[in-house]
Amino acid sequence: MERSLILLKPDCVQRRLIGRIISRFEDKGLNIVGMKLMQITPDLAKQHYAEHVAKPFYPGLEAFITASPVVAMVLEGLEAIRVIRDILGATSGLKAAAGTIRGDFSSSRQMNLVHASDGPEAAAREIKLYFTDAELCDCTLSL
Ligand code: CMP
Repeated sequence: MERSLILLKPDCVQRRLIGRIISRFEDKGLNIVGMKLMQITPDLAKQHYAEHVAKPFYPGLEAFITASPVVAMVLEGLEAIRVIRDILGATSGLKAAAGTIRGDFSSSRQMNLVHASDGPEAAAREIKLYFTDAELCDCTLSL
């Protein structure tokens, strides 16, 4: 089993797409083990996007990601990190394939609706930025 940190970004929340996007993850069989609506601060944005802070697009990215609340989630499943990135599609909504979340709902590189961890180390680091251990549930199938 793998876990990944997902952010439903401000554009996703403002466009009232939360339910439709979460349905895609649930339909695939991924389990939600943590979830909250929260405001990202500039400080948290710099920690989260540490690898991008020096890039020219970072000021715009920080302004966007801190503009209004996001939904932070931890999803769990077999090969979850790759499976989720496949469901999302390419970073830019303009390049993402039809049938992916970004391909179907985004026409922007920055406002691409959802962030997902890009590997196991990033997932471990990002999950700790957003959730305490006590906020994560064991959702082992019992029904
Ligand atoms: P995300 O998966 O959250 O990881 C980094 C984010 O930076 C990315 O999604 C986009 O929102 C944004 N991003 C990446 N490349 C660019 C770019 N060239 N211009 C503007 N935003 C970008």
